[in-house]
Amino acid sequence: MIIQPIIKGAVAKTAHPYGCQQAVLEQIQQAQSSHWQTSQFKKVLVLGASSGFGLASRIALTFGGALADSIGVSFERGPNQDKQLTGTAGWYNNIYFRQYAEEKRLIAKNFIGDAFSDDIRQQVIDYIKSDFGGSVDLVVYSLASGIRPDPETGTVFRSAIKTIDKPYSGYVLNLESDSLEQTLLPVASQQEIQDTVKVMGGEDWQDWLTLLADAGVLAKGCQTIAYSYMGPKITHPIYHQGTLGKAKDHLHQTAEQMNQQLNQSINGQAKIAVCKALVTKASIYIPGFSPYMMALFKIMKQAGNHESCIEHMMRLFGNKIAQPLSKNCLIRMDDWELDLAIQNKVAQLLPLINSNNFKEIADYSAIKKDFMQLNGFEFNSIDYEEDIDLSSLKNMHL
Ligand code: NAI
Ligand code: NA
Repeated sequence: MIIQPIIKGAVAKTAHPYGCQQAVLEQIQQAQSSHWQTSQFKKVLVLGASSGFGLASRIALTFGGALADSIGVSFERGPNQDKQLTGTAGWYNNIYFRQYAEEKRLIAKNFIGDAFSDDIRQQVIDYIKSDFGGSVDLVVYSLASGIRPDPETGTVFRSAIKTIDKPYSGYVLNLESDSLEQTLLPVASQQEIQDTVKVMGGEDWQDWLTLLADAGVLAKGCQTIAYSYMGPKITHPIYHQGTLGKAKDHLHQTAEQMNQQLNQSINGQAKIAVCKALVTKASIYIPGFSPYMMALFKIMKQAGNHESCIEHMMRLFGNKIAQPLSKNCLIRMDDWELDLAIQNKVAQLLPLINSNNFKEIADYSAIKKDFMQLNGFEFNSIDYEEDIDLSSLKNMHL
């Protein structure tokens, strides 16, 4: 099969395995050459390890000096030859990450399945006990999901990306047709707000930590970190003051609670890294958000302080995470994004962006390229004409 990009709206339907390998390799090389070096953590569990911030965290911790062993949990799909499905990018990211880590004689165990399910939790705990030395010293929580099934009742909660006070009129990016389309973000119902908090808030994070603690697999001094976004005022109607922001508020409260508990029980810590806006499978999907990202990328690149996912995570684990924790448990990784000089320029540019000019006046090409590369496309070193045998890929072990 010759694998070509197929995009629907803001979702990629195909992924190129060798391009994904290249993406992982490039992140590894960046981690190895970064001037930040990570050394604190040696046994890491990453929930949401296959893409975006989770993958970058895992790479930073493994290849950025710490040489950590890692367990990754993610929800991904492998190739299916009969249906001519390539499999998801995260599927290949997991495989190639493991291969590169094993070349360094490090443990890189991948679990594929629903992180909300009891089954996966138990598998992870059993594995830590039997094959991982009995404990972990860092738990990274980097899940981004639209749904959360409740294992006990079977109810499925769905998150909604909506506003809270009044509808928001903005743009949704269509990466398939390279167009910016007018959209209206509706106001969420109380139920939708609650459900979004249920899916993307802190409850599941806390459940995981409770279970791991009860199983006795958290090392003394173990830390846990989850990722959040706040953003500047101009984005508040769609994010910070919308349904996602409510979920993040809950995540922040959970961090403060867990930080106290972990501190008392194992001298541990719970933290939130408030991160920069970056192109991932999850963020590109947020309606109304892409014009801001396009403007931000342009301005930060001009200023010379734009970071990629791996650069961002190297700065987190190589520098920021070791600094004294503030009372609210937040680590402000968004300091460069929210810099006044940056935001003043973004605020000037953003209102000028429309469907006709966004490719010229904002950094659309960077967003598009980042998105394509997330799925293994647009790497110069890859031969995209190569006929790839899906059945042989299927046999690669996780
Ligand atoms: P992503 O879509 O690249 O990664 C999500 C990960 O979760 C993937 O590994 C996926 O397989 C996994 N996952 C989803 N549902 C799962 C399930 N049921 N069971 C097991 N694994 C599952 O997204 P991204 O952007 O890396 O998001 C991670 C976190 O970072 C989220 O909390 C997000 O809000 C936060 N964040 C993202 C920012 C951005 O600009 N991308 C900015 C600030 C915070
Ligand atoms: Na992630």
